[in-house]
Amino acid sequence: MMNRRDFTGTLAGALAGTAFSGFSAFVPEGRHARRLALNAARLNAHLKELSAFGANPQGGVSRVAYSDFDRAGRTYVMELMRAAGLEPRVDFAGNIWGARPGTAPSLKPIVFGSHVDSVPEGGNFDGTVGSLSAIEVAQSLAEQRIRTRHPLEVVIWANEEGGLYGSRAVSGQLTAPELANKAWSGKTIDDGVAFIGGTPARIAEVRRQPGDIATYLELHIEQGGNLEREGLNIGVVEGIVGIKQWEVTIAGFQNHAGTTPMDRRQDALLSAARFVEMVNRVVRAEPGRQVGTVGRIQAFPGAPNVIPGRVVCSLELRDLDAAKIDRLYAAIEGEARKIGELNGTTFEYRSLHENVPAPSDPAVRAIIDQVTKDLGYTARHMPSGAGHDAQAMAQLGPMGMIFIPSIGGISHSPKEFSTAEDIARGANVLMSAVLLADKR
Ligand code: GLV
Ligand code: MN
Ligand code: MN
Repeated sequence: MMNRRDFTGTLAGALAGTAFSGFSAFVPEGRHARRLALNAARLNAHLKELSAFGANPQGGVSRVAYSDFDRAGRTYVMELMRAAGLEPRVDFAGNIWGARPGTAPSLKPIVFGSHVDSVPEGGNFDGTVGSLSAIEVAQSLAEQRIRTRHPLEVVIWANEEGGLYGSRAVSGQLTAPELANKAWSGKTIDDGVAFIGGTPARIAEVRRQPGDIATYLELHIEQGGNLEREGLNIGVVEGIVGIKQWEVTIAGFQNHAGTTPMDRRQDALLSAARFVEMVNRVVRAEPGRQVGTVGRIQAFPGAPNVIPGRVVCSLELRDLDAAKIDRLYAAIEGEARKIGELNGTTFEYRSLHENVPAPSDPAVRAIIDQVTKDLGYTARHMPSGAGHDAQAMAQLGPMGMIFIPSIGGISHSPKEFSTAEDIARGANVLMSAVLLADKR
């Protein structure tokens, strides 16, 4: 397993040698077909610099959305954008945009980017690889004086990890009550958006309409182990899972832990323990790739000598089929009611947010297939079990995603790792895909 030292060592290797700066994107088709240099050493150096913002002792980052570290990391990213010739603009939802004009301004833009916020105790590659690669593509095009027909827009989405808040504002899927939700930083979405330079009261104005985007592309780490296991360079995403999250409140009766007999308790935490086990059982009861998780749990008042009167926990369900998610949720609700009846507790659910499943666009998949082949990389098609801003963008135009290997299939962990070589390959596929999409 790669640790922090290996990560640094690999980067140092990439920086010292010329091997990776030799990776090149291919300007596809036409009389002017030629190879373009993308500065992979610079890209990997930028990734290392960004990893300092919110660096955690385990070797990853804790740069949750709307935190001080998030804001500092965004400031760093905006400096990179300026150096790449992209004047950054923060929209009302806190997303950062950098535009590069095209030669045919009547065309809709090609949009590409990702996010730089992390989960608590996250890694250095989730979101950052796609974000900094997008900026590197813009910088490489500028340095080599390549003009595209379409306007290009590099985007760094706000609060991806909390539930695609920035991209769902743009796709029109964000609902007003969600602005009161609490983010991991402890701020409400409202306060958090303002903290990073957005204007929550005007967030609805960032909405774009279907057809407003010519193509959306996102490079990302796979976050699973398929590419590494099969020895492949690139994953071409077929579709992204739907995700629904709820806050579940279990109410019992708070009482003395020494004087209340075992058969007279309304213990909310006991019900929560049974709930966690039941969710796992219900989700596994049918075939398929669906997953269900209780990732957070808090008992109140939270003392060794008090029977918990209340528990608040999360419930998350994912699948490519939205109807299956709804069916599983109904089954879980029914089973939970039975659990509550055993000891006089009740379950209440508050929907937090929903990311709808999204297939990628066949024509964009074909573009990624083509450039991967031109560059001599190996690839396969695969679904994404992780959520991505790309699924919100699929509401507005043709969407495609490019995956690179995650070593050991580890993600949402400080142990998350992708090699400098794989990052260079992914960035080159992104650059070539932007250029081929521009020709179409
Ligand atoms: C985002 O990374 C998610 O899949 O939760
Ligand atoms: Mn991500
Ligand atoms: Mn993530």
